[in-house]
Formats: sequence, C-alpha cells, structure tokens
Amino acid sequence: MDKIVVLDFGSQYSHLICRRIREFSVYAELVPFDISYEELQKHNPKGIIFSGGPSSVYSSEAPMPENKIFEMNLPLLGICYGHQLIVNKYGGKVKRANKEYGSSLLTIDNDKDLLNGVGESVRAWMSHGDEAEQIPPGFQVIGHTESAKAAAIASEEKSVYGIQFHPEVVHTEQGTEILKNFVLKVCNAKQEWTMEGFIESSVEKISKIEGNVLCGVSGGIDSTVAALLIHKAIGDRLKCVFVNNGLLRLNEEKEIEEMFRDNFKVNFSPVDASQEFLGKLKGISDPEEKRKIVGEEFVRVFTNFAEKSGPFKWLAQGTLYPDVIESGVSKGPAAVIKSHHNVGGLPEWLNLEILEPLRELYKDEVRQIAKILNVPEKLFMRHPFPGPGLSVRIIGEVTPSKLEICKIASKIVEDELLEANLYSKVWQAYAAVGDDRAVGVVGDERKYGNIVMIRVVDSIDAMTADWTRLPHGLLEKISNRITNEIEDVTWVTYTISSKPPATIEPQ
Ligand code: XMP
Repeated sequence: MDKIVVLDFGSQYSHLICRRIREFSVYAELVPFDISYEELQKHNPKGIIFSGGPSSVYSSEAPMPENKIFEMNLPLLGICYGHQLIVNKYGGKVKRANKEYGSSLLTIDNDKDLLNGVGESVRAWMSHGDEAEQIPPGFQVIGHTESAKAAAIASEEKSVYGIQFHPEVVHTEQGTEILKNFVLKVCNAKQEWTMEGFIESSVEKISKIEGNVLCGVSGGIDSTVAALLIHKAIGDRLKCVFVNNGLLRLNEEKEIEEMFRDNFKVNFSPVDASQEFLGKLKGISDPEEKRKIVGEEFVRVFTNFAEKSGPFKWLAQGTLYPDVIESGVSKGPAAVIKSHHNVGGLPEWLNLEILEPLRELYKDEVRQIAKILNVPEKLFMRHPFPGPGLSVRIIGEVTPSKLEICKIASKIVEDELLEANLYSKVWQAYAAVGDDRAVGVVGDERKYGNIVMIRVVDSIDAMTADWTRLPHGLLEKISNRITNEIEDVTWVTYTISSKPPATIEPQ
C-alpha cells in the first residue's frame, strides 16, 4: 500500500497531519524525526512530510533529520518548522520574526501544483516565531501573507515544498485540498487505505497466530473492536473476560454481556467480582488509595481468571496509534516508542505475548470499524468512562447507598441530555455524590439528605475542559427528576469549575 511518512519534530499537530491524510484514504505514518535513513527506506514512502515543532533551525539543539534522507529524492513537504528546515537545508535563510499566531490571509502567487484549486486567497493558520528571510536558490514563492513574504515556497523540479502555515488544522481553509495536492498529485500516492481493507488484512494476519488469546473487555469501544476483529479471525480460540467491579454505570454489566454473548456470540466470561472490590474499598476515603485498590484488585481477578481458564499464549489489548507513538522531540529517541498497556501490572509468569490489533489506528478509524462490524451505535457514542469507575465519582468512602445515588442520578443526567439532543455534543456528563448533606422539606417534614453534583463538560482531548452552559430549563428538569426519583437526595448542584484548576473527575 502506498504510504506517506511524517517526520515528527514535536508539533502538537503532528498526529493530525496523518489523520487528515488517512481521511482521504492514503496511509500515513508518524515516525520520530531522527529515524535512520535505513529505517525510513524500509517504509518505502511515496513522499515525506516534515511536521512543525517548537524549535528554531538556527539553535544549536535544533532537531535535524539525517542528511541522507534528502538524497532519497522523494517529494518533500515541510510544514512550519519543517518549512524552515527546508529553507535552511537548501541554502536559504531563516530569521527570528514577530510571533504570528492565528489566522492570516494567504495570497496565492502560483497555483500550479501544491496550491492548485484553492482559490486566489485562503485563511491559513499560523503558529510560528521564525520565518524565511531568503528563499533557497531554485525555489519560488507560491504564496505569501502580509507579514510572511515566503509563506509557501516550491521547487517544482525537486518536488520540494515548504509552507509556513498548518494545512492540517481545520482553521486553514482548503487545508485538506493542499495536503491532497501534495499526496495525490505530487507524490502520486494511491488511495488504498480503507477500513474494509484494514479488517480484511488484519483478520488474515491474526488468523495465522497459534494458541489461545485472552482479551479483557470493558464495554468500551477499543477493547470491543479489538475483540471482534480477533474473533473474526480465530473464533472460539479467543476468550473474553469481563470483570464486573461493582463500580459500573446503571445496568452496564447486563448490557455488555448481552452484546458479547447474545449479539456477537463471542466466547465470553463475565466475572462478578463486585463484592470483592466493594469489600476492599470499605472504609477507604483517600482518592489515590481507592484508585490503587481498584487497580490491584483488577489485576488479582484477571490473573486468577487467566490461570484457571488458560493456557493462553496471547493477551489482546485495544491500544491505539497515539498511545504507541509519542512525540519525537519531547522524549529522547530511546523513549519514543512506548508500549502503552491498558492492563498494566500483570505478573510475568503468565508469560503472555501482547496482541494489539488496533495499534495502527486512530480513534475515528476504530469508530468506522465498529460501524462496519455492527457494534450498536449506543456503544461508540458513549462518553469516556474512567477505569476505576464510579469510585472516582463518589467523594469519600464508596458505600452502597452513595453508589446507588450515583448510578441513578447519572442515568437521569445521561437520559435527559440524550432527550435534549445534547449528549453527543458534550464530552462527559454524570452525577457525583459525597458525604455532605443538606436540609430539605418533603411534604411537611424536614429531611436531611444527600447533595448530588451534576458535572457536564466540553472538551476536545480531556487535557482541558470547560463546564457546559446547559439551558436552565434542562438543569431544572434534571434536578427535579433527581430529587423526585431518588429518595435520599435533597439538593442538586451544578459544577461550574473548569479544568484547570479543577479536573473532570472529582477524585
Ligand atoms: P481528569 O479527572 O484527570 O480526567 O480531568 C481526564 C479524563 O480521564 C478520565 N479518567 C480516567 N480514565 N482511568 C481511566 O481510564 C483513570 O484512572 C481515569 N481518571 C480519569 C476522565 O474520565 C476524563 O475523561
């Protein structure tokens, strides 16, 4: 399959370049900037892209690709820092400039190839402190902005291009067109990357493995899709285990069992360990201690299962591409590739090899596969849910009554957002409960009941989050339902702290 390789110089947008290219069905891979010439050759790329990055090319610590890479004579596109690298490498000059951040009007001076079909001018997203003062011999300016005279440059003869702006972010108009021009027209890459093709080839690969596979499923999209792909390849040699830790959302364990066992006919073993988990959490109110207990208990239950139901040769995990590849700049080259194991801490004597069928994929690609494999939409539309479950949404000790309140109140929040068509527009939405109580009046009686906190947040990647400005009428309805339907609750509050300084989960 034709492939574009993106060298990562540490831009926060590096992964986005690959995603945008894959969206038009060409396979793109992110590699560390210091990949060796020999390694890069093994990729057999149709073209190379240098990402942006925080460094300056004239700094002594500037990350540089291996020189021989330029001798491959492949089409090359530099973005932002990558643009400056190209200017520098081919004999131009880069200078410190006024910082330009945000949207600028890019005027097209030559629309022959890279900027073909994008119009006379477009808004382009800038984020840089350096600029090309003098372009290299043999290059010409193909686009400029008011402050950057050489915002886009080209050497048609060499098929080398540099652009100061970021075509991969949505704020750049026609950004995808520009990437398409490079990938499809300059590199002549074929559009061969489809999720149907991925399913077919990975099923073929997985069907060749020997021995039994153990897969811990959580009901989340990643472990579900990983399990279904493996099941398609090896049928009942895959055994899925689902650990009910007693900290799941209302009726979640039943829904998951129904889906795997009844719908998908997968070899599925639910383990109800809720009493063990809740027993270990009894009397514990420290947030970190609670997380540790849930993690350790999970490993214990999982290991017991593996021991009793084995032997297994493989442990399957739903690790995704962004977990596998980290920035090539912020980590030293040796630490660049990390194997991110969701089920951490399993004892070595289990002697399991790791099978990660989704390690080349982005989340939106996993969602596409889920659709193709008929995973119910409800599952892949569901908000992220933390591994330690409701133990992080119950402030203080996890008690049966707080657990019950948390489950029912959260279901009300989710249902009302679904009803108002807002569920998919927010990042997460739930109810939390602690030990604080407040006085209410029920009928003619005073009642000292629990306080429930509603938390609904908008976010793009969970790194930062803002509280969602829900309509007052909707908040009122949620509050009324919670106090009417849950006997022990007298007050409902809405959490209006953003992250930072707050976090999304309270514990
Ligand atoms: P915070 O609370 O740190 O959460 O703002 C950020 C995102 O991570 C989720 N989260 C977790 N996910 N294991 C997980 O798998 C955990 O221990 C955990 N803690 C928080 C949280 O739901 C939010 O999406």
